[in-house]
Amino acid sequence: MTNFSTIYKLSLVAAVCFIKACSSSCPVMECWFVQEKVGRGGGLTAATSQEKSLLHIKTDAHSHSAGSQQAPSDINPDRVYFITDPAATLCHSSLNPPRGSVQKPQCEINPFLPQPSTLKWVAPLTDSANSPKYLQADWFSTSIQGLNKQLAISTITRATTATKEHNVILSVTSKTVSVQARLGEPVLLDCGFWADPSTPLSDLGFAVEWRYQFRGDGRLVLGYDGKTDRLSDTQEEGATLDYEGLHQKGNASLILQEAKVRHSGMYICTVYLPYVVAQVAMELEIVEPPSLSIHPSPLPLAVPGQILTVQCEASGFAPLSLELTWEFKGADGQLRPLGSGSASGHRQAWDGTYSQSTRLELDTSTMDLGRGGEVTCVAVHLGGTRRASMNLNVIGFSGPSIEDSMAMVGVALVLYGLIKFVSWTFCSSGSDKADQQDKKDK
Ligand SMILES: *[C@@H]1O[C@H](CO)[C@@H](O)[C@H](O)[C@H]1NC(C)=O
Repeated sequence: MTNFSTIYKLSLVAAVCFIKACSSSCPVMECWFVQEKVGRGGGLTAATSQEKSLLHIKTDAHSHSAGSQQAPSDINPDRVYFITDPAATLCHSSLNPPRGSVQKPQCEINPFLPQPSTLKWVAPLTDSANSPKYLQADWFSTSIQGLNKQLAISTITRATTATKEHNVILSVTSKTVSVQARLGEPVLLDCGFWADPSTPLSDLGFAVEWRYQFRGDGRLVLGYDGKTDRLSDTQEEGATLDYEGLHQKGNASLILQEAKVRHSGMYICTVYLPYVVAQVAMELEIVEPPSLSIHPSPLPLAVPGQILTVQCEASGFAPLSLELTWEFKGADGQLRPLGSGSASGHRQAWDGTYSQSTRLELDTSTMDLGRGGEVTCVAVHLGGTRRASMNLNVIGFSGPSIEDSMAMVGVALVLYGLIKFVSWTFCSSGSDKADQQDKKDK
């Protein structure tokens, strides 16, 4: 019994240790340290230098476990940093791949210069003119992409000048790095932030900005000044924030009430504290599969030798890329591709969705369609594959079946009878007239 309880206790201890080790596994991350090259004043294109650096993440400033490891030989010891992140944002599993994994999170760290913003919805944060002494320190901005696009993080860290012990002051995250949505659905673009409550900056308020970017075209979606609880004038229709969640939990997620095609693009969530700013970007794609229709409907009966034109119209889809093809399933159940037909150009509807059609010439004499079957239009789209089918009937088909032969014999007999009858009536009436003529002559 005592043995059992000892084993039990030991395994419990082991389990607890294991769980602890797993849950508190903040990563040691390789990161590119990128900065403008010093001593190269002027010039429009600022030259940058890129060096490997190492970030030891911990949640508690006093723990030193992670620091005991040796830095890899290709990393300059001056570029090894120790970052304390009490919110544990940087301890997400997607930033900590298993040892030896080929995939690594992407990370870039840059020197950061705190400064007031002039944006209308941010300026109130730095009303009191003189900048605090607190800003005189080493500031870094770090942006990280977790594995498999699970997470994007951007942080602002501060270290007492010339030390390498940084503290996270502001972190902004998104768990929706790449989102697909159907037309008309509500969309949530995730963005959350955490500001160190012990920093004097967080007492002065915050601001949030959402911007949209698509092929060089950008616009403000929404700007919010959290200090005075005011929204920017220009705003995208149907775009809102959860203001309660924003103030209570730092939930700055953008809600688009109804997805439209023009919403596809890049969204940037920017969170401002006085003098500091961090932002994460995410991609939204509105994906709507096409609806298909075939014309004429139903298909007319075809006779051998006839060419039947069939049209397939795909409409209401986005994005543009679409592949239309035709298939034929004969009476024998065999599926045969009939190619893509001749596709039309695309048109765009008022709601931004596209339509496109393809025309197929069904040549009953050369295409070996037998007695007919099922003609199908297949549309392959990012939103899914769609099909529409129509029955094709070829009558009087040249390779006759027994019924056809019987019918033909029947038709031939009827025709023969008809000809006989017509010629008989005609001939007999002709001879009657001749008889009358004869009588008159007499
Ligand atoms: C943020 O707010 C949105 C909208 O209310 C909600 O759907 C989402 O779950 C919230 N996110 C978090 C992490 O609480």
